[in-house]
Amino acid sequence: MDGPPGPKTDHLGGLLNRMKSAASPLRDVLRDLHATYATVHDGTVASYIPELAKANPDAFGLSVVTTDGQVFDIGDAQQLFTIQSISKPFVFGLALEAHGRETVLTKVGVEPTGEAFNAILLDEASNRPFNPMVNAGAIATADLIHGRDFSERVDRLMQMFGRFCGRPVYIDNGVFLSERATGHRNRAIGHLMLNFGMVSERVEETLELYFQQCSALVSSHDLAVMGATLANGGVNPLTGARAIPATYVKDLLSTMLSCGMYDYAGEWAFRVGIPAKSGVSGGVVGVVPGQMAIGVYSPRLDAKGNSVRGIKVFEALSERFGLHVFESGFQGESMRELLLSKHQRGRTSPSA
Ligand code: DON
Repeated sequence: MDGPPGPKTDHLGGLLNRMKSAASPLRDVLRDLHATYATVHDGTVASYIPELAKANPDAFGLSVVTTDGQVFDIGDAQQLFTIQSISKPFVFGLALEAHGRETVLTKVGVEPTGEAFNAILLDEASNRPFNPMVNAGAIATADLIHGRDFSERVDRLMQMFGRFCGRPVYIDNGVFLSERATGHRNRAIGHLMLNFGMVSERVEETLELYFQQCSALVSSHDLAVMGATLANGGVNPLTGARAIPATYVKDLLSTMLSCGMYDYAGEWAFRVGIPAKSGVSGGVVGVVPGQMAIGVYSPRLDAKGNSVRGIKVFEALSERFGLHVFESGFQGESMRELLLSKHQRGRTSPSA
């Protein structure tokens, strides 16, 4: 029987949700998709951060978490990898929470660039980085993280990731040191912004903080929980704890929709149509507001730095379930209908 709507955060609720999702037909759909795209071997693992090149190119995790707390983890869904650019919307949220919208917008815009994520590019009129989803904007928002010293700032960052994931989050020190040793382009961006007063004098410390945020370890399961927290108005559906004030959720989601997939953002908005963010280690998170989030991990990337299988999975799910946020007149069965379906796996309906 379907339980009442809303997050199931108590012990019994969690158990019921596990039983429900274990028997859900959505699990079969996700397993089929995973099996189909596991055969795709296009793309290359990122190597400009040398430590990332050590990733298993065939790793493939697929997760869905719903706003009422159902969890679907397929394949390598618990495999940890560094979050990289997927940290950016969440750090943008932390900056908004600390300073408010108007102050943050004096340091970073919300306009897509159409350029690569690491472009050395500021808006000529305002000297601001274009948006918080590219490296320049992310360094500017990292600069806004409060704290008396580096360790207090790192602590604030990790607490925020912890609220979104519903568990303590740790740094991959090898990846951190590897990016720190090779991140000259990000240093150039940081110092250019210092020249224009877009970041504070503690730019070197902020760059270290940015390298730390990119090195936080998550799984596709975690990405789906983080995304479901945004889909759920800022409250983690598995813990019931608020991770971000509700008023800022729309700021994260709108910039994810317009800028989250870099110079593929327009094509993504057209084809997939849900707010999303990718990272060079091969993660993608996508959010269907009010319903659920999808997390994918597959490290082989296309030329724009997006996970090849990740894009394929999202395109397929969006088309199959009509997930595009501007969809109207969708004829098929929605994911919500499938989740509410009484026809559980292993049972046949009388008409089947
Ligand atoms: O700053 C960098 O280049 C990386 N730490 C993050 C880049 C990234 O994930 C872009 N993603 N597609």
